[in-house]
Amino acid sequence: MNATADQTIMSGAHQAPSPRGDGAAGASVIQIAGVTKVYTMGNNKVFALHGIDLTVKSGEMIAIMGSSGSGKSTLMNILGCLDAPTDGSYHLDGIRVDGMSRNQLADLRNHKLGFVFQGFNLLARTSALDNVELPLLYDREGRWKDGRTMRRMAEAALERVGLGERMDHHPSELSGGQQQRVAIARALVTEPTLLLADEPTGNLDSHTTVEVMALFQELNDAGITMLIVTHEPEVAQYTRRIVELRDGRVIRDHPVEGRRNAAADIKKMLETTPTEQEDAA
Ligand SMILES: Nc1ncnc2c1ncn2[C@@H]1O[C@H](COP(=O)(O)OP(=O)(O)OP(=O)(O)O)[C@@H](O)[C@H]1O
Ligand SMILES: [Mg+2]
Repeated sequence: MNATADQTIMSGAHQAPSPRGDGAAGASVIQIAGVTKVYTMGNNKVFALHGIDLTVKSGEMIAIMGSSGSGKSTLMNILGCLDAPTDGSYHLDGIRVDGMSRNQLADLRNHKLGFVFQGFNLLARTSALDNVELPLLYDREGRWKDGRTMRRMAEAALERVGLGERMDHHPSELSGGQQQRVAIARALVTEPTLLLADEPTGNLDSHTTVEVMALFQELNDAGITMLIVTHEPEVAQYTRRIVELRDGRVIRDHPVEGRRNAAADIKKMLETTPTEQEDAA
């Protein structure tokens, strides 16, 4: 069992990044083929995913859309190595993922992936800084042994999301948008190849949503590949590509036309709404 899994990693490490031979343009961060997920409920089988093929190149920013139950979270859980497909193959950064052991998956997650969720999932009794530092402390290989280095990395991640002044605040002392930014810093602190976000703006008002999308666009411009599950067409307009699911199948996959710039939208909003200074006066 272990030997096979080890071979999988070994062969992955030495494998050409494009096992299906679809050309050399841009490295594939994700390559899945024929991915199926079947849940068995008593005598019933639920086909949550029905043979999904998807290739994601480095630097992409993709919205995964589709109505409730279409398979978005199931797909994200498989891409995030949190769940295994029933059938099909998955290569992450050229490494074959299907067939790996639990521990190998955990290491891969810690090395390559950052997660952002709708509900922020922060530890309530812990400061922003401690929350962001957690993934470094949990690294099973102890890549960041030195406590001072870990602290500095966590501080840098919080500064990157604009929360340099709020490091000692607990989640309850932060706004929803700020809490989500702490969660984004926590996702970024391990310097992942890929950021996966499931409804990251689902709990935020429209203004804060645009602020979070501005941060995502900035991070994507800096080279981070990201997949964002969303119900909101407005959110999808800030990405570069929309993949739409229905009943566990990809029904549409197209580039975003007239992509919106979130930073410009915030500027416009500030011009049209009364400023805080006026409110205070
Ligand atoms: N653990 C599970 N056991 C059984 N069926 C499941 C399980 N998880 C998901 N499903 C089923 O798989 C299908 C896809 O679910 P999934 O959660 O991926 O949908 P979704 O697109 O994320 O929906 P939403 O927008 O409501 O979050 C649904 O029919 C769902 O009922
Ligand atoms: Mg879902």
